[in-house]
Amino acid sequence: MLSQQTIDIIKSTVPVLEQHGVTITKTFYSNMFQKHPELLNYFNRANQARGRQQTALANTVLAAAKYIDNLQAIVPAVMQIAHKHRGLGILPEHYPIVGENLLGAIKEVLGDAATDEIINAWAEAFGVIADVFISIEEDLYKEAEKDGGWRLFKPLKVARKVKENDMVTSFYLVPEDGSTLPDFKAGQYITLRVKVPGDEYTSNRHYTLSQPSNANEFRISVKREDAVDPQGVVSNYLHEGVNEGDLLDVSAPAGLFTLEENSNPVLFVSGGIGVTPLNSMLQAMELGRPVTFIQCARNEKAVAFKEQVSKKIDELNGSYRVLFSDVTGYVTKEDLAPFVKENTEVYVCGPAPFMQTVISIAHDLDLPSENIHFEFFGPAMSLEAAASAN
Ligand code: HEM
Repeated sequence: MLSQQTIDIIKSTVPVLEQHGVTITKTFYSNMFQKHPELLNYFNRANQARGRQQTALANTVLAAAKYIDNLQAIVPAVMQIAHKHRGLGILPEHYPIVGENLLGAIKEVLGDAATDEIINAWAEAFGVIADVFISIEEDLYKEAEKDGGWRLFKPLKVARKVKENDMVTSFYLVPEDGSTLPDFKAGQYITLRVKVPGDEYTSNRHYTLSQPSNANEFRISVKREDAVDPQGVVSNYLHEGVNEGDLLDVSAPAGLFTLEENSNPVLFVSGGIGVTPLNSMLQAMELGRPVTFIQCARNEKAVAFKEQVSKKIDELNGSYRVLFSDVTGYVTKEDLAPFVKENTEVYVCGPAPFMQTVISIAHDLDLPSENIHFEFFGPAMSLEAAASAN
């Protein structure tokens, strides 16, 4: 239990953190990786290069500071991060390392302004926040181990590698020992840990399971990225360097972006490779629930799973539209309006600006927030925390 004095100090430092948050987390990462280079086996170095994770952590620390006397409010947002952490194999012993380096960075950047009182208050607060993460993550590890699952990583064999189109290839993964795979919900992902030749550290990436739950095999569908985009190093390695018969280290399925079970009409809106989780949710649906699928892609060549989506939509008596941004630009209110009723549930997945556009259209069409579903990383923390506190 934190004292009122500690809570007051934490809350009063939010404006300072807001000012220096990104510098503090940059310093934090650089110091931490210098002292603990082994942690580079966990972090996405492409995200580091783009400053993405820095922002995510800064936002999260701020959100936590704002809600330090009501951490219950941020549990939904913590859950989403905890699923990622569980997939990556983040463990309780990692937290003190992060805590120590974060406090060190606050001291370094704030200089004299970071009094002992402030640092001690933050040390206490970090401990409380870390305990929330650790306990939620331990529950997720236990859950992952049930029913044929496993705690950290398990080698699975690439049974088949199937080209879906010029850019997307599917990988079918099976246990080598003939055991069965755990059940998962459509929309969930697995994390792959690979050592790309020439790299000193392992790289981890999350890939959505792209076909409904099946005890014999997992399928992921991987988009090839531009050769110079560091974000694509794992995806491109899978395309070029991983073949049928090879083994890949895989975590048990995780993630919260799944189809709510009710009878409300569903509107899926996908941008680019964001089609994968939405197609999985669609494939898992049964006749009776009204459904529309709007798939946005740059052009005809970039459309993945068109036949599968189209076939399933026919079976469900739904509607299917494919929009090409090269021809008509981004998706508009006019594109979505005909398919939105007051109880429609919208599921959106795609690049961040695309999702922002669709979410704001859905709000313009008077859909309440609880009917708009998306998986949005860093900033989701503050959004969700604010939402649940209101
Ligand atoms: C209370 C402490 C922590 C907070 C608030 C926090 C927050 C976050 C957030 C917001 C994300 C982004 C999630 C997303 O992309 O969906 C993230 C991802 C991640 N976190 Fe944490 N985290 C904490 C502790 C840790 C620890 C102890 C480790 C391990 C040393 C760790 C390793 C990672 C990794 C590897 C990622 C994936 C992002 C990347 O690879 O760039 N985190 N964390």
